[in-house]
Amino acid sequence: MTKIFTTILISMVMSMIVHGQGSIKPGELWPDSEGKHINAHGGAIIMHKGTWYWFGESRLPRGEQDRTRYGVGCYSSKDLVSWKNEGLALRVINDTSSLLQPGCVVERPKVIFNRKTGKFVMWFHHELRGQGYRAALTGVAVSDNIKGPYRYIRSLRPNAGVWPVNFTNEQKNYSVTEKDLKSWTEEWKQAVRDGLFVRRDFEGGQMARDMTLFIDVDGTAWHIHSAEENMTLHFSELTPDFLDFTGVYYRVLPGESNEAPAIFRAKGKYFMFSSGTTGWKPNPGRLSVSDAISGEWKATGNPCRGSEEENKITFGSQSTFVIPLNQKKDIFVYMGDRWNPQNLADSRHIWLPVEWENEMPLIRWHDEWDIKGIK
Ligand code: DGJ
Repeated sequence: MTKIFTTILISMVMSMIVHGQGSIKPGELWPDSEGKHINAHGGAIIMHKGTWYWFGESRLPRGEQDRTRYGVGCYSSKDLVSWKNEGLALRVINDTSSLLQPGCVVERPKVIFNRKTGKFVMWFHHELRGQGYRAALTGVAVSDNIKGPYRYIRSLRPNAGVWPVNFTNEQKNYSVTEKDLKSWTEEWKQAVRDGLFVRRDFEGGQMARDMTLFIDVDGTAWHIHSAEENMTLHFSELTPDFLDFTGVYYRVLPGESNEAPAIFRAKGKYFMFSSGTTGWKPNPGRLSVSDAISGEWKATGNPCRGSEEENKITFGSQSTFVIPLNQKKDIFVYMGDRWNPQNLADSRHIWLPVEWENEMPLIRWHDEWDIKGIK
């Protein structure tokens, strides 16, 4: 008993030393209340009844052979600094007839609450066992309790058999296909902008890789995903129960190769942090702005304000989410991942305060900062 008590006490003190009380140290190990680095990557945070919940990829630690111990991790906190491990909210299903079987890939999970149904809905990027990143599916799961367990419903490619709202009749009827063009030539890039892959994937459904969810002021939920071979983002409307797609979707920044979208609303506008497409390696951060979620998104450049080297790699991170700390006061926190592809569980969390300049958000590096101080 005394041993357990001493272990817990040491872990709590460790957590306070490494992450202070209220202090965030981007890039350092971030121990949970048991002293283990928080295993919730490509994640997001949601507040429910006065508690913050962090959902993210729970990656198998290096050397772990048991693939059934994989899924979406959930952590809870009252102050966004000290986190309690709540276990796996969604776990792979130990059954080879399930698409969610061990060996599949679950990335960038996001959870939202549906006020009408009273249910928590999780969507995630889902790749199938042994198929690399070819499947490009999105999976959905549901739970009555925020911490789960979430019941896996299905995985799909969205919007099969429907055209994007902002797709012209001319674009629908182009006859050029992939076979006619050499990849990455100017002609090919133009064809991609003109919907080459939208037409290719029309019947089977559009690709869904890196993703996020966003609930607009009118309560409509949007599933935002890298589609068209990661060349174009699709903003796809979810049904009122958040469990399916309505078929209403918009192409955003066609041909611009955006991944890692993270959306927030501030100052009457919609902002999106995103990245380019360089696998696990960080690249220059991107910021885009729009007057409406389904409006005309405009890329405005790199939101990082560091040295040239730091800006080129977004301070060694890739965006995953923006925490609305105090929406009324425009206080937000940038959440990113510093991936370690050799040991994904060890990937570090890069949290930085969103700062403002000329009504535009930006991020600066801080070795250590006090999250309580910015509220
Ligand atoms: C970049 C994505 O943003 C990550 O979530 C992950 O899918 C890697 N690519 C895999 O290379």
